[in-house]
Amino acid sequence: MERPFPTVAVVGLGTMGAGIAVAVARSGRRVIGIEAGPDQAARALARIEEATARAVERERLTAEMRTALLALIQVGHDLGRAAEADLVIEEVPEQLELKREIFAELDRICPPETVLATGTTALSVTRIAAATARPERVLGVHFFNPVHSMKLVEVVRTVLTSPQAAEDVAEFARSLGKEPVAAGDRPGFIVNGLLFAYLNQAAAMFESRYATREDIDAAMRLGCGLPMGPLALLDLIGIDTARTVLEAMYEQSKDRLHAPAPILGQLVAAGLLGRKSGRGFYTYEAPGSSKVVAESAAAGSNRPAGREVRTVGVCGSGTMATGIVEVFAKAGYTVFLAARSQEKADAAKAQLAKSLERSVAKGRLSAEARDAALALVTPTGSYTDLAEVDLVVEAVAEDLGVKRELFAALDKIVRPGAVLATTTSSLPVISCATATSRPQDVIGMHFFNPAPAMKLVEVVSTVLTAEDVTSTVLELCAKVKKHPVECGDRAGFIVNALLFPYLNDAVRMLQEHYATVDDIDTAMKLGCGYPMGPFELLDVVGLDVSLTIEQVLHQEFREPGLAAAPLLEHLVAAGCLGRKSGRGFRDHARR
Ligand SMILES: NC(=O)c1ccc[n+]([C@@H]2O[C@H](COP(=O)([O-])OP(=O)(O)OC[C@H]3O[C@@H](n4cnc5c(N)ncnc54)[C@H](O)[C@@H]3O)[C@@H](O)[C@H]2O)c1
Repeated sequence: MERPFPTVAVVGLGTMGAGIAVAVARSGRRVIGIEAGPDQAARALARIEEATARAVERERLTAEMRTALLALIQVGHDLGRAAEADLVIEEVPEQLELKREIFAELDRICPPETVLATGTTALSVTRIAAATARPERVLGVHFFNPVHSMKLVEVVRTVLTSPQAAEDVAEFARSLGKEPVAAGDRPGFIVNGLLFAYLNQAAAMFESRYATREDIDAAMRLGCGLPMGPLALLDLIGIDTARTVLEAMYEQSKDRLHAPAPILGQLVAAGLLGRKSGRGFYTYEAPGSSKVVAESAAAGSNRPAGREVRTVGVCGSGTMATGIVEVFAKAGYTVFLAARSQEKADAAKAQLAKSLERSVAKGRLSAEARDAALALVTPTGSYTDLAEVDLVVEAVAEDLGVKRELFAALDKIVRPGAVLATTTSSLPVISCATATSRPQDVIGMHFFNPAPAMKLVEVVSTVLTAEDVTSTVLELCAKVKKHPVECGDRAGFIVNALLFPYLNDAVRMLQEHYATVDDIDTAMKLGCGYPMGPFELLDVVGLDVSLTIEQVLHQEFREPGLAAAPLLEHLVAAGCLGRKSGRGFRDHARR
């Protein structure tokens, strides 16, 4: 196939337009840049010259390449010149009327075969297309900022866009070294559609004082490996921009989860727009700075000191229990590994030995440290061996009956004053606490899998947890080199309450045939820098586990938007549970 669109006009050469003009010229195409007037055109040209000079300094471009690509770009202010282009990309400010006027003009100016693309983020491509007499040749082409480094391009088709035009634009994007994904015309397309609902929930979580901004951000970075926490990201995007995108999403979906959290409106009204204004959720050194200024008097600083912990009991013999034993033993604690039978406890210790051996083989642990850690661990089939420990961490099956029975037993065995912790990820901690006669000593310690590697621990205090018990666990986390975040005893804690609704939204997108599994995964990885796409993650976590968490969240908050997507239920019913069963959203058996 011939290279599509040898001549491209870019209308509006601001942040996005200037970046796109350079990317297009780099592909060897002629670029006609069009600004609103002569002054704006001069400024735009200067911007392009500066940006490319910086690229030469940073060795992203050679001086010769810069000269060659600048020779391909002409900048003016006559929209009529768009007539010479095969493709016009519009990148003017995000105002529907302005964009519609420009498209009506372009439709008049350009030959009938010219393809017209809008760079809108949140406006309806269909309504922009309706300003022309050629809606089959109008589509959205959504680049990401900064254009030179972001590989993703969402190619947005309306119901009227011809498949050929969409394919040509996708091919064009590939020839710029980008990775195009196909999306339908709905606010936010793929990336923002999934991202902003999640950001909105994080803002609402902060607003309800469920957790601090630092803890919400740390939880998502450390618990999910995201490059940035949601509140820091909102500050970077701009609170006003985020609110506009959410308004557009809500307008169409009428889903309350898209209705901008009230705090976003308050921040905007107060002029606290994020980094660009020097303050948003965080305060920055100066407008435009990325350096956060610490604010005084952290909450909780007058909390009592914690209790002393020297010996630890871990109940369970599965993945989490074994991983948690490893964490404590490596930090020098004496650990009793208590399972339902001596055989199970011995087998768990053997697993631990294997894991430590792997660390030695990888050079991460010395042979002495391995031996020292192993020597600290006593496997036992009897919970009575936990009588004198200072802390018990329960990591048995995720079943309330089983856990309550265990807590009732521990209550009779373990010395008074010991801290009793549960690692549950979806059951109420308080239900474990009330199975004992000492609910003030019971707390949640939600570790992440694999426990030795994942730094995050959600520390979940119930309404009855004593303050010094919370202190004990926070201090202990620091000693075993974990990052604790504090939250209350409600479904999903921080991470799962923000993660699973996003995963569920992705399943809904798929179920509605809005985009494919591969395109959604690619979009989130390239658009947001996530380590895995939502479907990759669902297949790893397990579809049954994910469904249970979504059901618990829905049951807790009764939010219609949190109801598990029927497609997820169907897959679970069909036995497609993800990697562990060989098939989930993808077929792993055939790979
Ligand atoms: N900034 C981002 O991160 C980002 C990312 C993806 C998409 N977008 C979308 O891209 C589009 C452009 O955004 P931006 O951030 O580059 O905006 P911007 O404000 O930086 O640039 C807009 C440019 O358009 C010019 N302009 C205004 N009216 C014009 C007219 N009638 N004719 C020609 N030029 C005109 C302005 O002079 C300005 O240079 C918007 O639709 C935005 O939503 C932005």
